[in-house]
Amino acid sequence: MSKKTVRDIDVKGKKVLVRCDFNVPLDENRNITDNTRIVAALPTIKYLLEQNCAIILCSHLGRPKGEFKPEFSLAPVAKELSRLLGKEVVMAKDVIGEDAKTKAANLKPGEILLLENVRFHREETDNDPEFSKQLASMAEVYVNDAFGAAHRAHASTVGVAAYLPAVSGFLIEKELKFLGDALNNPVRPFMAILGGAKVSDKIGVIDSLLEKVDTLMIGGGMAYTFFKAQGYSVGNSMCEEDKLDLARDLMQKAKDRGVKFMLPVDTRVGKEFKPDTESKTVAWTDIPDGWEGFDIGEKTIEMFSEELKNAKTVVWNGPLGLFEFDQFAKGTNAIAKVLSELDATTIIGGGDSAAAVRKAGLQDKMTHISTGGGASLEFLEGKKLPGIECLQDK
Ligand code: 3PG
Repeated sequence: MSKKTVRDIDVKGKKVLVRCDFNVPLDENRNITDNTRIVAALPTIKYLLEQNCAIILCSHLGRPKGEFKPEFSLAPVAKELSRLLGKEVVMAKDVIGEDAKTKAANLKPGEILLLENVRFHREETDNDPEFSKQLASMAEVYVNDAFGAAHRAHASTVGVAAYLPAVSGFLIEKELKFLGDALNNPVRPFMAILGGAKVSDKIGVIDSLLEKVDTLMIGGGMAYTFFKAQGYSVGNSMCEEDKLDLARDLMQKAKDRGVKFMLPVDTRVGKEFKPDTESKTVAWTDIPDGWEGFDIGEKTIEMFSEELKNAKTVVWNGPLGLFEFDQFAKGTNAIAKVLSELDATTIIGGGDSAAAVRKAGLQDKMTHISTGGGASLEFLEGKKLPGIECLQDK
């Protein structure tokens, strides 16, 4: 069932608590290195400003584990938000303490307050009812726009919805539209590319996508478990010995369902886990002892690219190699480039694949890049996201 958004209820002039996912990367000087999630929250904030609301924003940042730790303060976010909006964003010194409560109580229509990191309280991750109630007591309406945290059943993502009219913001609406349409109503051929280190992290998503896609392409560290499952040696490559049966089952399932299951046919191997290590390309069946697979090879790039040219919908989650090291980023970059040129709907799951697309400078060429890492993965697995389930139905 679809969920109500801020458009579906009367928010005019009201005090609104908005949960965002401002969990952004910071460098050692606490400068924000990627403001995508803050930019993604702007449409909802701007709409609420137009509706003359007093806006109380809240978010987590990192995992401070229930303690006040200055390095996890949201202060850099308040500064960046204020720069992007061209408007003051007042920062509270705490979450439900005296400073936050006083500032929230005095907040006027058209003003914005950002509470401190909700995870400075253990009650946040415990989804504590009393903490949720305290948060809710500051506002008249609750808007969840934190897609990236929608898979967490925490106080500020779920608990507060028990005490206030609860609707989604525009970011959650947009994520559900793109991810949901791709999964449930794809224009075919529908293809998925899955990468990342471990099969165990992706079992759910492989299993669920095998019910939906026409072609599934596998790359990244998990490919080596599939090689081993077919009886080949993988040298020092990452391999989950206890997942070999599962890998065989997944390949069988693909066969039974008539899904084209594509594994790399060659791989770029390196001597050591170092950016400038000696490397070479070998066939997937010929990984030498003492070498470790770090990327898909040229033939695989060609084979995946050819297949992708026929796609009308593509979902991509997980890099195809160790893209943090330039010499092993070729597979990931090449596939990102192919996707950027397709006449198809291209959906990039968040986290590392989104980072890889941005690193390649191709973010504007994709149909949608999810702001959720874990959340988009769980959505693709077909799981219900608690931060969305708790919102009012349309
Ligand atoms: C993310 O970055 O994936 C979200 O902000 C959720 O963060 P978490 O994994 O610490 O809950």
